[in-house]
Amino acid sequence: MTQLLGVALRGTGSYLPARVVTNDEFTEVLNLDTSDEWIRTRTGIRERRYAGQGETSATLGAAAGRLAIETAGLTPADIDLIVCATVTPDLMCPSTANLIQAELGCGHIPAFDITAACSGFLYALSVGTQFVRTGAARHALVVGAEVLTRILDFTDRNSCILFGDGAGAVVLSATPVINTGVRMIRLYSDGSRQELIQVPSRVTPNPPPGPPQLQRLDYMRLSGREVFRFAVTRMVELIEQAEIDARELGLTGIDALIPHQVNQRIIDAALESSGFPAHKVVVNLSKYGNTSAASVPIALDEALRTGRCKPGDTVLLVAFGGGLTWSSALVTL
Ligand SMILES: CC(C)(COP(=O)(O)OP(=O)(O)OC[C@H]1O[C@@H](n2cnc3c(N)ncnc32)[C@H](O)[C@@H]1OP(=O)(O)O)[C@@H](O)C(=O)NCCC(=O)NCCS
Repeated sequence: MTQLLGVALRGTGSYLPARVVTNDEFTEVLNLDTSDEWIRTRTGIRERRYAGQGETSATLGAAAGRLAIETAGLTPADIDLIVCATVTPDLMCPSTANLIQAELGCGHIPAFDITAACSGFLYALSVGTQFVRTGAARHALVVGAEVLTRILDFTDRNSCILFGDGAGAVVLSATPVINTGVRMIRLYSDGSRQELIQVPSRVTPNPPPGPPQLQRLDYMRLSGREVFRFAVTRMVELIEQAEIDARELGLTGIDALIPHQVNQRIIDAALESSGFPAHKVVVNLSKYGNTSAASVPIALDEALRTGRCKPGDTVLLVAFGGGLTWSSALVTL
């Protein structure tokens, strides 16, 4: 029988592109009918980062992964699995994880992508955890990397103001101590509500007539108001379930909540309904906007680097997004 192992979070890393885009750029450069005041008060976002020339999900993900490996005290040769969550892969084939593996100079290890939109990182964390827990991998690199600004419709003020680019990563390592690291992961989906957030591609059931090069099929479309309601409801459920899980696992409590960074008003509404203490919540969306699969690992890495979270803390990670998908992880750092 396989002896199950503990799965420690051994290192974290993140990478944000240099270019800062303020809310004012949408009015001043793009002539969009919006305002800094509207964006700040309705979302909490003040600015976000945009990937530059030559930057892709793979280059951002590799930079975050390199830092996570260094922080773990390891080298790329030690990594024996890469899982990358992204909805903005460089290519349909090969996977972004393959490109990261080559960029980092890892060995001939398994490397593949996961698609679960803004829940993608927690889905990838779950896959990495299963490999490490069963002994199939000793050190797994789990990455969330996105360049969402490449698929935005910059004429749609409802969506284009929300998103930014970035990447975050963690190294999961096997440990004989079972009661540490990743304690519980919960993943959910509801494909019947697929139309609320979509990024159509060329591989579509109903391609419009005409030459493909004249079509832009790959813009993100979202129904913000409906997603808002879904996000609050699911975030409350995830928090309440995690509080039960934490008690059943014998944990003394949850020291910090790191939610998907989507909208301050979504987070505030979920905190009010669940009664979870606001001072325990890590929020950085004013600086980066919504970076989809990258948002949770970026916030986790920043929280550790700034001392907002410290080794030994039990942290609840929560995410929700296209699919629809929603997910949580209880992790002792
Ligand atoms: C998109 C979002 C910010 C809109 O905020 P909201 O308070 O729900 O706003 P509403 O959709 O009710 O729109 C209110 C009005 O503001 C307008 N509006 C939307 N975006 C605007 C903008 N950037 N600037 C100015 N006005 C805007 C709308 O057109 C609407 O005008 P109307 O009443 O004349 O029709 C919010 O719903 C949200 O964050 N949703 C989740 C985002 C999401 O889907 N993320 C991806 C998945 S995680």
